[in-house]
Amino acid sequence: MKFPKTSSFSQSTMRERSMGPNPLKLCEELLGCASIPAGSVVLDLGSGAGLTSALMAREYGHTVYAADLWSDPSSNMRFFEECGLTNRRIVPLKADATALPFAHGFFDAVVSIDSYNYFGRDPNYLGECLLPFVKRGGELLFAIPGMARDCHDRLPACLLASWTPEQLDYMHDMLWWRAIFAQTEGVEVDDMHEMECTREAWDDWIGCDNEYAEGDRAAVESGALDYLNTIAVRLRRQ
Ligand SMILES: C[S@@+](CC[C@H](N)C(=O)[O-])C[C@H]1O[C@@H](n2cnc3c(N)ncnc32)[C@H](O)[C@@H]1O
Repeated sequence: MKFPKTSSFSQSTMRERSMGPNPLKLCEELLGCASIPAGSVVLDLGSGAGLTSALMAREYGHTVYAADLWSDPSSNMRFFEECGLTNRRIVPLKADATALPFAHGFFDAVVSIDSYNYFGRDPNYLGECLLPFVKRGGELLFAIPGMARDCHDRLPACLLASWTPEQLDYMHDMLWWRAIFAQTEGVEVDDMHEMECTREAWDDWIGCDNEYAEGDRAAVESGALDYLNTIAVRLRRQ
């Protein structure tokens, strides 16, 4: 696949700031099937070290709130400044996705890359904790690390080479996620599909020089990607 916007970031920046499969590529592919007009106010939920927030602010012209629980907003702000972005275009903040500190109806759109499965597996999460902050008609776009088919009752050895059954419980297939979203009123599932860039996003990740990427290498090298996918989700608040 071609990623013209992702290519505006250096390989070393991607390697230093990724926290999983290349978030820039996942975000660019995901936004390719969205209709968020330039200048929208977007929540990057679980933004990690801010790569996708910077991508959306600089390359798509959005005003971005980069909200994350584990990352340091001051470090993210320095990165945003290095990217040429001011605090008028991008707002780094520490926030828990289950207790978001915003006004209802504030966001034109929500984007969440490789994070929604940390908090969104609770069927009440979407309706109670996220949807109220999105304008009516607004899009919610998620790239969720998933399974081609749920196999929790017979986990293959290649997955167990890097992850415990408890960690793998964060990953599910499209049918499982559809059933979760179906429990929420006031939201329409516009589209769900398997993303194309999964394999190259993972290849970029296991090429990173950090202990988490090194830990994931054994699974990927022994065939985990035959079982894993990335699920693109596009929801619309009614
Ligand atoms: C695998 S990392 C992905 C980060 C980033 N989106 C990327 O792709 O590089 C998962 C992120 O989810 C965030 N996260 C997990 N639970 C969260 C919560 N309850 N509220 C906000 N962020 C959360 C973590 O802080 C972490 O940065």
